[in-house]
Amino acid sequence: MNNRQLVTRLAAALGVALLLAGCERPPPEVKQIGYRGTAMELVQNPRLLAELAAKNQLPPALAQLEAPPDTPLAKDVYQNVQVLTDLNVVEFTHQMTAQASWIAPEQQCVYCHNLENFASDEKYTKVVARRMLAMTRDVNINWQAHVKQTGVTCYT
Ligand code: HEC
Repeated sequence: MNNRQLVTRLAAALGVALLLAGCERPPPEVKQIGYRGTAMELVQNPRLLAELAAKNQLPPALAQLEAPPDTPLAKDVYQNVQVLTDLNVVEFTHQMTAQASWIAPEQQCVYCHNLENFASDEKYTKVVARRMLAMTRDVNINWQAHVKQTGVTCYT
């Protein structure tokens, strides 16, 4: 074998190696989800799907504390409560703690709040969270014909 042949073979071997390196293992599953010929297909890798499912486990529910009947509403105690206006402070604190553990298990309250001033709307995440709370409430109150008694939650 001369040098030229050797180089050609090496290049071919490298090409095959690169081609195989691009393959996913195990091979992805392809499921047809629309009409034939419309290319509506779901391509999923069972290994990555299992990883995703493990990451999306529900955190354990927090114990709901019983509030005495004269517990004040959060909107009367705090300065800037616009959506959760019907929750008393115990329910409100429960909601905040739950939110922190679902959404930001590492950063906790800091993810949405300036700890010096909880009423401030300076963090984008707080503004978005408020819109999400308002949306969930709107869907569950005004769209019952559609969501029935099941309703929607953050997990929807
Ligand atoms: C995912 C975002 C998010 C996280 C995490 C979060 N909050 Fe909130 N918090 C909000 C939103 C949104 C409001 C405003 C609710 C409204 O307008 O009805 C709020 C309001 C408050 C208020 C009222 C402040 C005022 O004076 O108006 C307090 C107090 C509060 N949160 C405490 C906490 C605590 C304590 C934690 C951590 C355990 C926490 N929050 C975690 C989004 C969050």
